[in-house]
Amino acid sequence: MIIIYHTKKGIILAGGKGTRLYPLTLVTNKHLLAVYDKPMIFYPLAVLMLAGIQDILIISTSKALPAYRRLLGDGRKYGINLFYKAQKSPDGLPQAFIIGEDFIANDSVAMILGDNIFYGNNLDKLLKKAGSRKIKSTIFAYYVNNPKNYGIVDFDQKNRVKSIEEKPDNPKSNYAVTGLYFYDNRVVDYAKKLKPSHRGELEITDLNNLYLGQEDLEVEILGSDFTWFDMGTVNNLIEASKFVKNIEQRTGTKICVLEEIAYRNNWIDKKKILNVLDKYENSPYAKFLQKVAKDKIR
Ligand code: TTP
Repeated sequence: MIIIYHTKKGIILAGGKGTRLYPLTLVTNKHLLAVYDKPMIFYPLAVLMLAGIQDILIISTSKALPAYRRLLGDGRKYGINLFYKAQKSPDGLPQAFIIGEDFIANDSVAMILGDNIFYGNNLDKLLKKAGSRKIKSTIFAYYVNNPKNYGIVDFDQKNRVKSIEEKPDNPKSNYAVTGLYFYDNRVVDYAKKLKPSHRGELEITDLNNLYLGQEDLEVEILGSDFTWFDMGTVNNLIEASKFVKNIEQRTGTKICVLEEIAYRNNWIDKKKILNVLDKYENSPYAKFLQKVAKDKIR
């Protein structure tokens, strides 16, 4: 099957206050914290790169943006183009599309929350399928034990979406909306139409409900062979580190290594990988990249 690929732009929303992680996040932005052997932001960035997206806007606080620029630069070393914009205050997820209006221009766009980690077989194929739907939006749902804390999707007998409710008191299912969204170009106008909720924020659930009202919302269920975390609490942060450590130690490889993904996407060549090795000195990350450049990892 030939996939006609449409979504070429992505946004990482990596602002917020991270209050649940205080004092860890009093002077450091949450998405720079360590998740085992990499800064947190590598994980959502890896997801967008796996989706084949090369133009990426990072939205964070004006205080944190210089650190992201120092860490990731203009993206050239990963074969991508990185852009940066500030969010003045954390007024809700849909604000990303208002802040990113010029960046999005006339295109579709994917958005991922900076504290989300996704891992599973064939994730790249699932992402590319979502990205190939030109006029529609796609969200991803995952079975959780604590549905009162999430946006929750309810399905009818035929697995079509009936409703999405934000943090319901009486959840109609256990399927939570994860922090990864693919939208067509209407998203900018839809985001501008939203009114703040009782929390004083623009709500992504309201945005998804606008698409649902037009019957233009697809929900992909991530099965139990997938792993999804948001790393917003101290416990989830440590669980995420343990998860990455387990995979990497068991397999002797690494996950979400940006240079490796870029290399496999044919965005950078071996020479470029070897050029960055010095920067990582004698870390396990550098040793892994050495193996990648020698084609020892398939
Ligand atoms: P949250 O976890 O809801 O908010 P937070 O990161 O500020 O944490 P806390 O509740 O502990 O204060 O945000 C989810 C993700 O979205 C997180 O990666 C930060 C990001 N975010 C923004 O960048 N801007 C926003 O306006 C909001 C609401 C979230």
